[in-house]
Amino acid sequence: MKRQTLKPANRKLTGTIHVPGDKSISHRAVILGAISEGRTEVKHFLNSEDIMRTVKAFQEMGVAIKNSRDVLVIEGKGIEALEEPLHPLYFGNSGTTTRLMLGLLAGLPFFTSIHGDDSLTKRPMNRVVDPLKKMGAKIDGRDYGNLLPISIRGSVLKGIDYKLPVKSAQVKSCLLLAGLLAEGTTKITEDTLTRNHSEKMLKAFGADIHTENNTTTITNKNKLTASPVFVPGDISSAAFFLAAAAIVPGSRLVLKNTGLNKTRTGILDVLDEMGTGLEILSEEETGGEWTGDLQITHTELQGITIEGEMIPRLIDEIPIIALIATQAEGTTIIRDAEELRVKETDRIQAVVDVLTSMGANLEATADGMVIHGKTPLKGGIIPPYNDHRIAMMAAIASLIAKDETVLEDASPINTSYPDFFRDLNSVMN
Ligand code: S3P
Repeated sequence: MKRQTLKPANRKLTGTIHVPGDKSISHRAVILGAISEGRTEVKHFLNSEDIMRTVKAFQEMGVAIKNSRDVLVIEGKGIEALEEPLHPLYFGNSGTTTRLMLGLLAGLPFFTSIHGDDSLTKRPMNRVVDPLKKMGAKIDGRDYGNLLPISIRGSVLKGIDYKLPVKSAQVKSCLLLAGLLAEGTTKITEDTLTRNHSEKMLKAFGADIHTENNTTTITNKNKLTASPVFVPGDISSAAFFLAAAAIVPGSRLVLKNTGLNKTRTGILDVLDEMGTGLEILSEEETGGEWTGDLQITHTELQGITIEGEMIPRLIDEIPIIALIATQAEGTTIIRDAEELRVKETDRIQAVVDVLTSMGANLEATADGMVIHGKTPLKGGIIPPYNDHRIAMMAAIASLIAKDETVLEDASPINTSYPDFFRDLNSVMN
């Protein structure tokens, strides 16, 4: 637990933030680097607790991985070289590590058991365990494999044709990794497109993978070749500073090297529709992923409705969007976001509780929330939620609060943005 007291900003925010590496892309780079043949260098990777869970898991399976001057160097020897870990693998708070690794571990010829922290131990795994069992996986755990701790007796898998019942890139990615090891072809279809970093990176590492419309097909050509990765800045981390500039009067911030993959940029569309002064200053493609510099200037904001296909494009940004909406004129409605109920915490309830305690006017619905703006915020004491995005949302809210805000536990922020407070202080000049 790390208690943190935050004072109102009382001044405009100005300056430049160098956005830390993307969490989703960093996880995938570690996984693909570790199972491919040759040396993979991952530049600008996210050096955070969640990513280190994935790194450590492969180190325990015999892969040499070193952090050398901010480049992660992975000496891959191919999938067949992975060794049975001697101890249970600890995945901490990381849902992405757990769900993606389950797909891989299910098809490896050895036994593994996995566990996590209190938050991860409550999160549903049947969304990946059920389709993996259909592929022939031997998985057990609490609630028949729905909850950690889980054990996996690796086995020969067969490909499936599967339509995702949940809007989840973690489930899609898990099944693509299992498909890499399974006999025949694995075909995954999604109703609403989710982030596609796995598809792009698997292709770059030489997998036999094709996407047409919303269906991705992968075969078991499991010899991947090492490929250099440059990780763009995480738009989900940049979102906290976009929000800070959007709500603190007079602010202007530049966010360098932000990932601009279209499956992730819903927050930019929302900010545009709400009326912020948002500009993309430059844009370029590196290794199949788009990045660019963003400039945001504070202006008056309008409430909007966010729903449907937009939701997976901004799923992790909903807590911070809710905060922005408290400072917009009129009503903001968020629907179709039921997935928020099973994140690191129930994010619909957590957002409503935290912002209500700070003086905002909003209500929870089954699949989202309704936020009535614009309301002044007061400070308060924010209890621990074991959720990095709730803690960072409260920290940004504190900038416009009338009095002090106390985060009873700021430590979850280390899972995705260890330098968050350093960056925040750097723009409060
Ligand atoms: C992620 C997918 C999303 C997202 C999470 C990272 C990924 O989860 O919320 O932070 O890297 O694939 P879901 O797949 O549960 O939507």
